[in-house]
Amino acid sequence: MTDRHTSQEAGPAEVAQDATAFGVYVHWPFCAAKCPYCDFNSHVRHGGIDEARFAAALACEIASIAARVPNRRVSSIFVGGGTPSLMTPQTVAAILDAVSKAWHVNDDAEITLEANPSSVETDRFRGYRAAGVNRVSLGVQSLNDADLKALGRLHNAAQARAAVEIGRSVFPRLSFDLIYARPDQTLNGWRAELEDAIAMAADHLSLYQLTIEPDTPYAALHAAGKLAVPEPDALADFYALTQEITAANGLPAYEISNHAAPGAQSRHNLTYWRYQDYAGIGPGAHGRLTVDGVKWATMSEKHPENWADRVEATGHGLIVDEPLSREEAGDEMLLMGLRLREGLSTRRYEAVSGRPFDPKRLADLFTHGMIESVAGERLRATPAGWMVLDALVADIAA
Ligand SMILES: C[S@@+](CC[C@H](N)C(=O)[O-])C[C@H]1O[C@@H](n2cnc3c(N)ncnc32)[C@H](O)[C@@H]1O
Ligand code: SF4
Repeated sequence: MTDRHTSQEAGPAEVAQDATAFGVYVHWPFCAAKCPYCDFNSHVRHGGIDEARFAAALACEIASIAARVPNRRVSSIFVGGGTPSLMTPQTVAAILDAVSKAWHVNDDAEITLEANPSSVETDRFRGYRAAGVNRVSLGVQSLNDADLKALGRLHNAAQARAAVEIGRSVFPRLSFDLIYARPDQTLNGWRAELEDAIAMAADHLSLYQLTIEPDTPYAALHAAGKLAVPEPDALADFYALTQEITAANGLPAYEISNHAAPGAQSRHNLTYWRYQDYAGIGPGAHGRLTVDGVKWATMSEKHPENWADRVEATGHGLIVDEPLSREEAGDEMLLMGLRLREGLSTRRYEAVSGRPFDPKRLADLFTHGMIESVAGERLRATPAGWMVLDALVADIAA
């Protein structure tokens, strides 16, 4: 436990909080194959994808959301999926163009595209870079061929390494994702793999513990006893080891699953965790927009073709579009903010939620080492608190 506390003290320097931060998330809902563990809104279309239709519909939804919140200055754009690297660079350029027609995009905006190692080549990377993408997030998942196969991935470790190398030469910034606590993975195996990954990493890594998501093929295998994932105690060891190795190598956690060198944090994801505004564009995308001091929640239709039909008929695909009560907004802010090493401002929480923290409840959680105060102004979860975050948030918000 001591090690975990020590490593957490070496958190990366904060990225200054910009009160006007505004992110735009664009969802590309297609993949070449569906991975058996994944429950993201991603679909396979063997007959091909009408990219022009989806690009036009995305541009249309961007314009429609911008009409509700004009005059924002975009600080980040994130093209996620699905597998956005299945898009041609021309389609990515058309999407980015639609965003800059709708809002002013800051000169230093972070523009990220998610890519799979198997669906990308140097040519495409250069095309994305020419379109304006300045950060790539690669889904490496593992550096072990047998495990990549078991995860249903279409790439091998050599392709992943090549994609990281090419990505680093083309983009100013690069991050990649790994999934750990995989079936049959050992702690020593993970240590070696993580050290290997850090040696080839740039300044940002996303390290996710495998989650068995309901209604996935992995959930069925797990229920049938055919997937030997680590037990809860072992999971805590995987997590502690991950914190220790990343911190010792200059990539400490700034969020539960995200690690960066000082200043290299994902600005876009910070926008979510700091509970600032973002537009959600594309099938199944969520948005949070403040209008006249009230936070609105939006979500678009998930099914890609139904979403496109709606956009073509009405200009947008929103199926949820509602104001949040102060209590709901406060709960969301807490859930997001406690994911961050920097925690959340108690004053801002009280202003958003309209209610003070319950001092007795907080005192109890302090005593149990679940939360801590930063300079009397911010509240953050300790590493022990991160391990049980949902319960912690439920307790504070109750
Ligand atoms: C939306 S996916 C998109 C990235 C890209 N399509 C890919 O898979 O490489 C984002 C990341 O979520 C992580 N992920 C997806 N399903 C997961 C699960 N069940 N458990 C843990 N991590 C998961 C993977 O690391 C993945 O790279
Ligand atoms: S490629 Fe990524 S988004 Fe697509 S199914 Fe696999 S994990 Fe999910």
